[in-house]
Amino acid sequence: MKKILLSMTALLLLVMTACGTTENDTTGSDATTEKKKLVMGTSADFAPFESRNTDGEIVGFDIDLANYIADELGFELEIKDMKFDGLVGALQTNRVDIVLAGMSATEKRDKNVDFSIPYNHSGEMFITLKDSNIKTIDDLKGQTLGVQLGTIQEEGAKKLQEDYDFEIKQVDSAQTLIQELLSNRINVAYLDKSVATGYIEKQDLAGFDDPTTSSPGMAVAFPEGSDFVEEVNKVIEKMEENGKLDELKEKWLSEE
Ligand code: ARG
Repeated sequence: MKKILLSMTALLLLVMTACGTTENDTTGSDATTEKKKLVMGTSADFAPFESRNTDGEIVGFDIDLANYIADELGFELEIKDMKFDGLVGALQTNRVDIVLAGMSATEKRDKNVDFSIPYNHSGEMFITLKDSNIKTIDDLKGQTLGVQLGTIQEEGAKKLQEDYDFEIKQVDSAQTLIQELLSNRINVAYLDKSVATGYIEKQDLAGFDDPTTSSPGMAVAFPEGSDFVEEVNKVIEKMEENGKLDELKEKWLSEE
């Protein structure tokens, strides 16, 4: 009897350890396929928040942030890359669960989607070629200013246009904006400062701050009424407290 009991305990132990490994082994394919998917929409044209590396993978501040959030909440992250001006619509039609795209939490967008607490603040900048004569906002008169479609810069440019009298050219990606500038099809690109500073350094460009800016912080966006907002807010708060958010800023936004 004692022998049987002993071997039964051994068997039980064996079963328990076996189960333990499957549950904890998140790298194993079994565990990964079991995880619920969190579909994130982004527009990977916006380094250092989201862009494609030389291998074509989407990387950046928002991707690290989203992976951390997904991990904390027990989801597997799936990223859908689309045009920035389609992201709010993708949330409204539930094609994506969340959006991280350096999206500023404006009141206007807040009417159609929900936002988390902000995770980064960035003003706006005007970028020019290095040898440009455009040095202040007053020099914009008669120039062609490029903006990305659907952004707060597109909207902001339309307002500034009344006072500063320039042409506006809309393009559908932030990367195209820089190409347009480099090939002299626009004289100024109007972008988030956190993104502009990177381009200025990498492409050897010049730029100056928009003195009129008052844009809200960047936040995670959700379909309206999503009960996910609170959970994500808690993760962001935790990241503020444990230094993880600063760590990500240090890693991706250090040029600022
Ligand atoms: N912060 C700006 C906005 O919310 C621009 C964001 C553009 N993001 C992008 N991934 N291209 O309108």
